[in-house]
Amino acid sequence: MNNYFLRCISCKKEYEPRPGLYFCEKCGPIMGTLEVIYDYEKIKENPVVVQKSFNKKASMYQFDFLLPTKAKGKFDPYVGGTPLYKFNLLGLKDLMLKYDGSNPSSSYKDRASSIAINLALDEKNDTVFCASTGNAASSLAMLNAHTPMETYIFVPSTIPGGKRAQLEISGAKVFSVEGTYDEVYDLSLELGLKKGWYCRHAAINPYLLEGKKTGAFEIVVQNDFKVPDYVLVGVGDGTVVSSLYKGFKEFKEIGLIESIPKIIGVQAEGIAAIKHVFDKGEPYTPHPIKGSTVADSISVGTPRDVIKACKYVAESGGYYISVSDEAILNAISELGKETGLFAEPAAAAPYAGLKELIAEEKISREDSVCVVITGNGLKDIKAVEGVISSKSYSKEELLKMFNDW
Ligand SMILES: Cc1ncc(COP(=O)(O)O)c(C=O)c1O
Ligand SMILES: [Zn+2]
Repeated sequence: MNNYFLRCISCKKEYEPRPGLYFCEKCGPIMGTLEVIYDYEKIKENPVVVQKSFNKKASMYQFDFLLPTKAKGKFDPYVGGTPLYKFNLLGLKDLMLKYDGSNPSSSYKDRASSIAINLALDEKNDTVFCASTGNAASSLAMLNAHTPMETYIFVPSTIPGGKRAQLEISGAKVFSVEGTYDEVYDLSLELGLKKGWYCRHAAINPYLLEGKKTGAFEIVVQNDFKVPDYVLVGVGDGTVVSSLYKGFKEFKEIGLIESIPKIIGVQAEGIAAIKHVFDKGEPYTPHPIKGSTVADSISVGTPRDVIKACKYVAESGGYYISVSDEAILNAISELGKETGLFAEPAAAAPYAGLKELIAEEKISREDSVCVVITGNGLKDIKAVEGVISSKSYSKEELLKMFNDW
């Protein structure tokens, strides 16, 4: 017996969960993404919730009373529980950096892949598939490598070297496609769903957001149940940003916190599709755009979770901003130099956004702010080629230099 049901984000029709049901049959895959709704009154009585007996370092499965499946994979005890660092930076009194680059495959996406793998096992599937800008695929491929299930991956041929290496090393069946992420996504859905494989596409499979929302739970627990005023995160398809809102909302619903942070979605200026829809206002109408950015993970022109991403951010009192590629690359360097944390471009975008909001006095010294760093910089070394010195010295040169110093 499930402890949840599904509800369409647009028409509110409710569904009993069943294998193969990914979106509202009436509203379709973009307007009709589904929400997973639990019995919050019952969860309030769970002893873990009543006693607030959470652990600041435990994996995301410590929250399994609000998840659609239980831990069973080898990696599950190590997914989530990522550090929440505090730094005195940018003149802010209370700045937190949630660093998800330390997950097993080095990105936030492990939170969703772990759920997908467990649900696929629950439903006795033999194959899982995914189209991805890179991280979701490398995460699924690596976390699924040890299970009996096959992994089929569809990615644009342009994905960064680190992510490609993870795919190949994990032994997944990889189809590198000449086309944009948006084209690869459509193609993979057509092929994968026809085959009846389990679909790890966070934007249409409603359960994957459930894994991602644990990032919000951890921010609360690790910050001693104090809720930040703002949470900033990079946005492509729109699932991560939506998941953060849902996480805070559910913790409020079960009485663990009293307010929800303003969620600020940060997009790349070159391809800010969700910002465009959000700024036009309600009713939110999907509007595909073309463009590009150095932040490959958020290079999405046809975002699939656009409706939730707009509704949830609006409900939080937040908004969307966009930042230039130059600002993103500067943010990677600055984060590295000031904190030692290495972020891939999409993961540094919210830090770039925060700097701009402070400069515009939209965020002040007194505000508490959490920036979610969603991916490790080692995945995309090429992006920072411009700031890496390639100079090398002969031994004689170096000895002379030190003598003259
Ligand atoms: C590192 C990183 N940050 C942010 C995102 C954005 O997530 P979403 O596509 O759910 O908006 C992604 C998605 O691939 C990602 O890999
Ligand atoms: Zn519907």
